[in-house]
Amino acid sequence: MFKPISISFAPNFEKDDTVLAIKLLLGMVSYSKLNSSMTIFQKEFSDYFGGRHVSLFSSGRAGLCYALKSLNLEHEDEVIIQAFTCVAVPDAVLWAGLKPIFADIDKQSYNFDLKDLKKKISKKTRVIIVQHTFGIPAQMDEIKAIAKKFDLYLIEDCAHSLGGMYKKEKFGTIGDLAVFSFGRDKMISCVYGGAVITNSNKIKNSLLQQEKTLVMPPISFIRQQLYYLIIYVISLPFYNIFLGKLFLWFAGKFELLSRAVYKKELYGERPSFLAYHLSPYFAPLLLQQFRKLSRFNKHRKNLSRFYIENLKLDLEPLPYIRIPVKVGDKNKVLLLAKKKGIHLGNWYRGPIDPPESNNAVFDYKKCITAEHLGEHTINLPTHINTALSDALKIVNFLKEIKYEKS
Ligand SMILES: Cc1ncc(COP(=O)(O)O)c(C=O)c1O
Repeated sequence: MFKPISISFAPNFEKDDTVLAIKLLLGMVSYSKLNSSMTIFQKEFSDYFGGRHVSLFSSGRAGLCYALKSLNLEHEDEVIIQAFTCVAVPDAVLWAGLKPIFADIDKQSYNFDLKDLKKKISKKTRVIIVQHTFGIPAQMDEIKAIAKKFDLYLIEDCAHSLGGMYKKEKFGTIGDLAVFSFGRDKMISCVYGGAVITNSNKIKNSLLQQEKTLVMPPISFIRQQLYYLIIYVISLPFYNIFLGKLFLWFAGKFELLSRAVYKKELYGERPSFLAYHLSPYFAPLLLQQFRKLSRFNKHRKNLSRFYIENLKLDLEPLPYIRIPVKVGDKNKVLLLAKKKGIHLGNWYRGPIDPPESNNAVFDYKKCITAEHLGEHTINLPTHINTALSDALKIVNFLKEIKYEKS
């Protein structure tokens, strides 16, 4: 009744996920079940990607960091990433001892501007990380050709895209490696988690070596992630009458919940979870979520089609993680929506999100289109907890305020 329409309040979790989180917290799932869920998840994820090797990590950013480390590059070798990204991406590059180089993006696709990408290649470039932003396919034929010509590794960052396709190939099967995030707002979720896949035996062996350096997370970290499901289930029904908001605030303040990004990461420093394995405690949840993927993606695609048709957006109907919409005054639109109990998304608020990130640490050089899109892009929800009636309210709201496209 008082539940808001929201893009990022525990978007992927359903009742059975919360019940499972409670059982996990109460120790009602045996160790052998935890371990077997891990093995089964790894096997099913691998099968989904044609038998590729799967390494699991504490997060997508940890996956990206260890994926880069597995390539055994020289200190300060260059990695081209796109601007209009999460700070987790340049962070992972730094943590691997490498140097992020930002290339600008294309205004329509939110993916690499190919001209700028080529311009940014130097003698020190070793890797291109391609993002498939929002689940919009990047121009993989062209990017693959560039990588081949300059003898560069190609990593697909599939944090926004699990199950999407480029032509007839699944995202994640086109580059040398691919990284996935199972973070709270991603395609499927165990709150903190990530995976790296590869078809190369050499990279696989190197990833396995990296995994050996990791330790199991402390129980406090595990609890924080499992509490997330329960705290949101309790808070959301009362969110619009302040009580829910207050409860969430307390949960954050007393560190019952983890943060999506920690303050130190804004300055390029390593968070403690970088050293953790993916906990087996998250495996049953992750497996349960993965088995819902085709239903989730069907829903995402249906809602995408609805927004595209009703708002006349220049997009193909695909299972986008979020639908990007360009507006005139972004902050005003987000605020007006919030007043109506509609919490839309702000990905991303600039070339490196959050905007409090210290761009100098990452040696960011101006990318005009990424900065422009950061000021003018809002996102609409496509997740399983967004009903068609919610999407209709969002469409009506946007039409009512005559949001201007920039
Ligand atoms: C494009 C992109 N890549 C990688 C990541 C890192 O994923 P994780 O949050 O699981 O570390 C994120 C998000 O946080 C992201 O937005």
